[in-house]
Amino acid sequence: KLHLTVAILKPSTVSRPAVVQEIVNLVNSNDLRVITQKQIVLTKEEACRFYKEHEGRFFYNRLVTYMCSGPIMVMALAGEDVIQKWRKIMGPTKVYRAQYESPTSIRGLYGISDTRNAAHGSDSVQSAEHEIQFFFPEFDYKQWYREN
Ligand code: CMP
Repeated sequence: KLHLTVAILKPSTVSRPAVVQEIVNLVNSNDLRVITQKQIVLTKEEACRFYKEHEGRFFYNRLVTYMCSGPIMVMALAGEDVIQKWRKIMGPTKVYRAQYESPTSIRGLYGISDTRNAAHGSDSVQSAEHEIQFFFPEFDYKQWYREN
């Protein structure tokens, strides 16, 4: 059974084309498929809305500022167990943990700090659906699941 997730390459990653290419290669070599993608620059309002669940956390303002600081690449990925698979490929959120426990993960290799941690992935089927609708409102999520 195929599932969907949202993968985001954050501004400090998109600014490094060779790194973007490495990550696309990782997606392909892990049997994940890019269903749709776009490169966008978030407004402050959009970034606040996307990270609403983190409102009030100590890192919220710096996270929002960072996510608006340049283009991001948003991808809908499909594959078996794609949510867990992509999260494993990314490695832990916190960069020191990523470098220590998972040095060849995306965050282990390309994370700069806990905020500038290279990439994002949906954490559940529900958040994947919500994030796909957030970034790809034209994408027919239910239709895709009927067909896959
Ligand atoms: P992401 O997967 O996009 O989800 C929330 C983001 O908050 C996370 O990646 C990091 O970029 C950012 N963040 C910054 N500091 C922290 C922290 N101490 N703990 C968790 N997330 C953090």
